[in-house]
Amino acid sequence: MENYNLLDKDLMPKHVGIIMDGNGRWAKKRGLARSFGHKEGMKRVIDIVEASVELDIKSLTLYAFSTENWKRPEEEVSGIMNLLVIFINNELSRLVNNNVKLNVMGDISRLPDLSRNSVEKALLKTSKNTGLILNIALNYGGQTEIVRAAKAIAEEYKEGKLDLDKLDEDSFADYLYTKGQFMPDLIIRPSGELRISNFMLYQIAYSEFYFADVLWPDFSKDEYVKAILGFQKRDRRYGGV
Ligand code: FPP
Repeated sequence: MENYNLLDKDLMPKHVGIIMDGNGRWAKKRGLARSFGHKEGMKRVIDIVEASVELDIKSLTLYAFSTENWKRPEEEVSGIMNLLVIFINNELSRLVNNNVKLNVMGDISRLPDLSRNSVEKALLKTSKNTGLILNIALNYGGQTEIVRAAKAIAEEYKEGKLDLDKLDEDSFADYLYTKGQFMPDLIIRPSGELRISNFMLYQIAYSEFYFADVLWPDFSKDEYVKAILGFQKRDRRYGGV
């Protein structure tokens, strides 16, 4: 049973971002192929999405595949791409029933057809939902996201559709994949690594960071509660006093 009652309902993060790290090490520790770590990691995706719905979090962003992850062995890449298909096949009806709206961050045009088609189906089927926004970062890079925004802005300016005086930190955010959402309050990275790895570089300006020592396949709902509890103890000043 989760310790949800430990949490202060008035201090819940509205947007949580997670760098799901440590699948490979989890598998290696057990003498298994890395793909087993990703498979177990997918189970935690299901748990943490469910917990986020239960805790009435508005946005959950999961870093599933970065623009750099293509450098991994082909077998591992195709394994992760297959898990995405399995996740959608198994979970789509539950996502729909739980009022979860899927949003993709990143360029999915490079994904294998089967994975891309699954993702597009899930986007369509959840598009009218109004509950948790589940952002899945796929072939995503934070710098690329900012450059993409800058290009869209330049394009609009060139077409005379944009008044540069109206462009500020808030309106710039409308050109990001997280358009219309709260900025992440809390970024969680399990596995003990202390890096941001090109994740939501624009959006994390005032995020709190929580680094967990457990590997992602061990990141249970209780670990999630621990991270949120840690967040609730922080004193957020946004540059003020
Ligand atoms: C990082 O661990 C994890 C990934 C690059 C893949 C994450 C994918 C999943 C959890 C599976 C499916 C996702 C969805 C959304 C259905 P790592 O391999 O870098 O671990 P290591 O640092 O221990 O090697």
